[in-house]
Amino acid sequence: MAIFLDTGNIAEIKRFLRMGVIRGVTTNPTILRREGLSGGGKALKKLETAIARLIHPLPLSVEVTSNRREEMVSQAREFASWAENINVKIPIHGPEGEPENLEAAHLLETKHNIRVNVTALMSAQQGILAALSGATYVSLFGGRINDLGHDASGEIADLRSLLDRLELKAKIIVGSTREVANVVDWLASGADIVTVTPSLLEKMIVHPYTKETVRMFLEDARKSQ
Ligand code: E4P
Repeated sequence: MAIFLDTGNIAEIKRFLRMGVIRGVTTNPTILRREGLSGGGKALKKLETAIARLIHPLPLSVEVTSNRREEMVSQAREFASWAENINVKIPIHGPEGEPENLEAAHLLETKHNIRVNVTALMSAQQGILAALSGATYVSLFGGRINDLGHDASGEIADLRSLLDRLELKAKIIVGSTREVANVVDWLASGADIVTVTPSLLEKMIVHPYTKETVRMFLEDARKSQ
């Protein structure tokens, strides 16, 4: 079981690598835009290559920016050529529900030997199909599932038991993490990995009662000088 960092911020990645608590990094176009990325493919390559090098041999997910099958395949091949620890995120279908994305995922895993992370999954039923297509990772968006009034923990548990029964290799990543409590809940429900933002990871570490306890230790140590 592991925690990945959901960010494109190099300083934050360095900070949590120094603590030894992360086992990979995930990015997507929205996260990178929030980090101020501009300059198209060249800038994307520069940033993702720097992250891949920094965290090597830990895995980095880089998402395709097209929804056309041939373009997704050629982008994925390019991204994977930047560093051996890059895997490629492909949304399970397009904005109008175009299911050809799974063709690209299957082709990349079976013909091009590229690890694929099928992303933007909102249900166990999508997850099982992504895993059957050969994906190395299947990414459920836990917070978005809960936002719609469904139960992310239930979807994770169903997907876990289906993957195990069918002996499929895909690892379950759960992203879209909104609250600290999600992390342990989702790992306990059967996720292999939960991916979290730097601010949420910091909240997982810091506890007000720990602060008070440590203050007491320091104060008593000072008084016994
Ligand atoms: C996961 O891999 C995604 O990058 C991410 O967690 C999506 O989160 P959001 O719902 O906050 O956009």
